[in-house]
Amino acid sequence: MSREMEIALKAAKAAGKVIMNGYGNIGFVRQKSERLGNVTDIDFKAQKAIKEVISKFSKLPIIGEEDETHTFVDNAWIIDPIDGTNNFSRGLKIFAVSIALVKNKQPVLGVVFNPATKELFSAEKSKGAFLNNKKIFVSDISELKDCVVDVGLPTREKVREIQFGIMQKIYPKKVHYKQFGSAALQLCFIAAGWIDAFVEYGLFPWDFAAGVLIVEEAGGKITNIKGEKIDIFKKDEILFASNGKIHSGLLGVLQ
Ligand code: IPD
Ligand code: CA
Repeated sequence: MSREMEIALKAAKAAGKVIMNGYGNIGFVRQKSERLGNVTDIDFKAQKAIKEVISKFSKLPIIGEEDETHTFVDNAWIIDPIDGTNNFSRGLKIFAVSIALVKNKQPVLGVVFNPATKELFSAEKSKGAFLNNKKIFVSDISELKDCVVDVGLPTREKVREIQFGIMQKIYPKKVHYKQFGSAALQLCFIAAGWIDAFVEYGLFPWDFAAGVLIVEEAGGKITNIKGEKIDIFKKDEILFASNGKIHSGLLGVLQ
């Protein structure tokens, strides 16, 4: 295991502790803005815990969702202390710490840790994807009628309109819809073969930087809605992740 992976795991577990101490005892939930969604005091505490661990070992900038401003640079740690804050604030155990290391704008390491279920997804470039140290692979589903697609439905109005449009487009194909409320975990669910695709407009790098590498390392595929390679810092893209086998079929319907 690389030194960087050791750091990321340590940081994810430190944040996990903070999060589970706060689970069921959340101080406050407030809406940051329509675009940025909800946050709790535990989000801030968990972000602090991650930064404390990483900054002891690495000089690279750490870009956290709960920072006041965000300047994206090509080489950095990108972290979301709690992805799935709404689930967390309601006690639903579908949320995770997400930590990515990005070099030359490409994720080279990803850790997504659900401290409530103790599921730890991880990947390093060209080394495969793992769930609690066991190698994971995407599903073999190749027929649209058999596939399970997560169509994200966050609270942002513009995003919801686009997402409803996506649902309408794929509805005639009789795919099965899900909405788990944590983009980072949804990507890991594809990597583990539990669902087959995920599509969402307007995500932020901290929502998906770790998860996209985990999907790719498990054999899946990530593009934008046009089938192009995604630029993780580009705003207002539609992220489309799949097991690879249904990728072009579903893209054909979405375009
Ligand atoms: C949100 C989750 C959700 C997605 C939203 C994200 P947050 O992240 O990933 O699944 O639909 O777009 O903002 O706010 O819980 O960190
Ligand atoms: Ca978050």
